[in-house]
Amino acid sequence: MKLRVFDSEQQAAAACAAHIAEAVRARPSLVLGLPTGRTPLNVYRELVALSARGALDLSRASSFNLDEFFGLVPEDAGSFRAYMERHFFQHVKLPRERIHFLDGSAPDAEAECARYDAELAAAGGLDVVLLGIGGNGHIAFNEPGDSLLAPCHRVKLGRETRLANAGLFGDDPTRVPMEALTLGMGAILQAKRVVLLAFGEGKAEAVAAMVEGPVTPRCPASFLQLHRDAEVWVDPEAGRRVSAQARP
Ligand code: PGA
Repeated sequence: MKLRVFDSEQQAAAACAAHIAEAVRARPSLVLGLPTGRTPLNVYRELVALSARGALDLSRASSFNLDEFFGLVPEDAGSFRAYMERHFFQHVKLPRERIHFLDGSAPDAEAECARYDAELAAAGGLDVVLLGIGGNGHIAFNEPGDSLLAPCHRVKLGRETRLANAGLFGDDPTRVPMEALTLGMGAILQAKRVVLLAFGEGKAEAVAAMVEGPVTPRCPASFLQLHRDAEVWVDPEAGRRVSAQARP
């Protein structure tokens, strides 16, 4: 796991977008794993800008989003699908048929998760997955616990996670769905390349636990220590609890 500390969130986001654009140039049919949340917003902004000036061509690429709230239709303004439309899909030429999403309104969650894993397998798995990290160490919606699951699955969201997502629901945590569907640890750990972004003081402890702590399901992101090509890109605030020895 390689840590990179950028001077600012903006610099990290610009570097991340440039990195993705380069990966798409090298492999136009790139399969991307995409996150939601506050963290990737500037990356999407940068990618949209690159696309607008012809420096990013997603016409042969595919995307798989990491997770979705359970019980929401895709059109719900609080859904991750709606977030992605607002911040990214509406503004770039990624063909609709190659945008993959978990359907939070599917009647049979188990069948929906199996469908999603099968679609991802048929696409050959993720080439590059962008991740954020929860303050509790989650990646996608793989929440901390006694164990972790490899396949896509239905998950009960922790209190901290529901609070962190209240912004999508008029800042009312009680409106945040109790459950979600998420890619499992398998899809993430099998991605060819992982870039995890973390910004701000609120992520400092989770980042230190991920980078230096024991590999434990209590901090799902710590499993990225086992990945062959995982990079953690942070701003100074998010990196401040990582010890000097673990710094580049
Ligand atoms: P955030 O969420 O980007 O809104 O902080 C990150 C995550 O929960 O993975």
